[in-house]
Amino acid sequence: MSVYWSDLVRRLTPYVPGEQPKIANLVKLNTNENPYGPSPKALAAMAAETSETLRLYPDPNSDRFKQAVARFFAIDPASVFAGNGSDEVLAHTFLALLKHDKPLLFPDITYSFYPVYCGLYDIVYATVPLDAEFGIRVDDYLAQEAGAIILANPNAPTSRLLPLTEIERLLAGKPETLIVIDEAYIDFGGESAVPLTQRYPNLLVIQTLSKSRSLAGLRAGYAIGHPALIEARDRQSRKADRPHAWSGF
Ligand SMILES: Cc1ncc(COP(=O)(O)O)c(C=O)c1O
Repeated sequence: MSVYWSDLVRRLTPYVPGEQPKIANLVKLNTNENPYGPSPKALAAMAAETSETLRLYPDPNSDRFKQAVARFFAIDPASVFAGNGSDEVLAHTFLALLKHDKPLLFPDITYSFYPVYCGLYDIVYATVPLDAEFGIRVDDYLAQEAGAIILANPNAPTSRLLPLTEIERLLAGKPETLIVIDEAYIDFGGESAVPLTQRYPNLLVIQTLSKSRSLAGLRAGYAIGHPALIEARDRQSRKADRPHAWSGF
């Protein structure tokens, strides 16, 4: 604590990151790092981009990255927001889209960064208990007043998956409420909600290259949703950011 700290920082309970022992070749599951390396094709593509052009600032719109994501999912690039890891994407989402008079809802056991962002951005929130099998009960969320809802799917650290039909029931049952699905672990055994973004303007899906693509050190994440949601995020992030270091992909 220092006299130079703001009131906000004094009140914050910091996020405690998983321990990072400096032992070579250790598999660290506490931060869910992928024990297998990235694809050699990804490494070669990055090496090919490393040249004296690093003296230049990258494209602030990350256009090539957004186009690559859009191509992969067969969606419009205007539906993609890019950030330095999904943690930064989440930060912009909390500030631009999840701050309302009614509380933001999320499970009582979930990614521990969510309450930290609420503290940082002064967002009112309420936690919803998981059931006895650590599952998310959609009916509990349908029954409550919510400014917005954020769910990790599969949830972390429980790993329980919510089927797409249940996510759709939530989206259809709360059309006025933004539902954010954090799909950091979806490739390990679940069906992505990305296709639902084409039908539900109240859905934002967030993904990362850190886990299944084994590129945590790259800090690359993105959000997919209706262009109006992406515009809110763009407005908010342009105010705050330098261009993304990796956006020259
Ligand atoms: C559920 C969940 N969301 C998001 C993240 C953030 O990942 P990154 O910032 O590396 O994209 C993590 C990291 O552990 C996570 O567990």
